[in-house]
Amino acid sequence: MRRYPQGVAVVTTTWKGKMVGMTVNTFNSLSLNPPLVLFIADRTKGNDVPFRETSSFSVNLVDDAKILDVFATKPVETRFQEVKFHLSKEGVPLLSDGYAYLLASRSQVIDVGDHAIIVGEVKEVKVNREPNPLVYYMRNYRNVCI
Ligand SMILES: Cc1cc2nc3c(=O)[nH]c(=O)nc-3n(C[C@H](O)[C@H](O)[C@H](O)COP(=O)(O)O)c2cc1C
Repeated sequence: MRRYPQGVAVVTTTWKGKMVGMTVNTFNSLSLNPPLVLFIADRTKGNDVPFRETSSFSVNLVDDAKILDVFATKPVETRFQEVKFHLSKEGVPLLSDGYAYLLASRSQVIDVGDHAIIVGEVKEVKVNREPNPLVYYMRNYRNVCI
């Protein structure tokens, strides 16, 4: 799979009073009508649990490798200390330096093997600026020239 370039995003929610977020390369659109998106969470690490147990999540489109690194490698408890964010009215963190975000209400969780497909219905979309997008390829973030 490392030879297959994949888009990257940071998914977040607030779970049991704590903000959680992780970098994913499994975000995708699923349906236009209704507007559904999905990402896939690793159940062996418990990455699905916060998203399974809350009703809303955000998907932040990020073109800064440092932020993607924070949400993949830093201790879960300290991640939001390293980035700028604000909260949606549902209390879901939105990364201020992302180039766009969407807010979704969780509609389905489908367990498949050791992962879970988290499906959300899109409730709000905001584009902040033009991106300089990154893809994850050969275990590195790489710029896409546009
Ligand atoms: C480029 C990249 C993509 C990732 N994509 C996913 C993903 O789609 N689903 C997932 O559950 N974890 C994914 N991860 C791992 C999570 O980001 C990581 O497990 C999560 O942030 C929790 O951190 P921890 O495993 O250190 O507890 C990805 C990591 C990287 C570096």
